[in-house]
Amino acid sequence: MRFDILTLFPDMFSSPLRESILGKAVEKGLIQIRTINIRDFTLDKHQVVDDTPYGGGQGMVMKVEPIARAIESVKSQNPSARVVYLTPQGRPFSQDLARSLSTEPHLILLCGRYEGVDERVRQLLIDEEISIGDYVLTGGELAAMVLVDAVSRLIPGVLGCDRSAEEDSFFNFLLEYPQYTRPFNFKGSCVPEVLLSGNHSAISFWRKREALRRTALRRPDLLAKANLSEEDKKFLEEMLGQNRREKARNGV
Ligand code: 6GU
Repeated sequence: MRFDILTLFPDMFSSPLRESILGKAVEKGLIQIRTINIRDFTLDKHQVVDDTPYGGGQGMVMKVEPIARAIESVKSQNPSARVVYLTPQGRPFSQDLARSLSTEPHLILLCGRYEGVDERVRQLLIDEEISIGDYVLTGGELAAMVLVDAVSRLIPGVLGCDRSAEEDSFFNFLLEYPQYTRPFNFKGSCVPEVLLSGNHSAISFWRKREALRRTALRRPDLLAKANLSEEDKKFLEEMLGQNRREKARNGV
């Protein structure tokens, strides 16, 4: 899979996308990441990429022509590349959206700065707008990195074993169960005995229950989407009933 990232700050991408798992995926040729400096697509001496807004107001707006030329230069090599604009006004990013993007062969990611881009960029050049959450960043670069990371790890071969992507939080709309490694006893806090039992069905059972408990307490909104068995539902009802009784006893 190929990512072409259009940005005014290509240096921001050098380390985060070259370390660790993504770095290895690049080395193995599973993903290709290129950064393209939008400023290289200006034609004037001062390489101007932004201008004041028509109608007045605060801030600067990114000009349409350099962005159009940058996108066209990538599209001249591959006209079917999909163009994504990272903006807080976009569709909320999610694991589902990451999964769907991971089947695209080629994404062009446009990172905005300042007060955003000229509206004609959106009208004429963009296939999809994506936001990574309800907060405002200084630009789309960090959001593009988040997207590249979340999408790349779903590409077969990028993670050591493909199962680990499936077992993650959100695969099944349940948060992950607690994990432990040595030592057994850290300052009096011990690993649950069941994990040392060697009884694999007991371990699976415990992990499923801990995942259910954690999701119910932290992210009850996810439970509605999870595929729960009758046994899971019964366990949750008992657990939540117990919690309610405990709270009542403590006068909360
Ligand atoms: Cl994609 N861009 C910016 N500037 N801020 C954001 C965002 C994107 N997603 C959430 N906040």
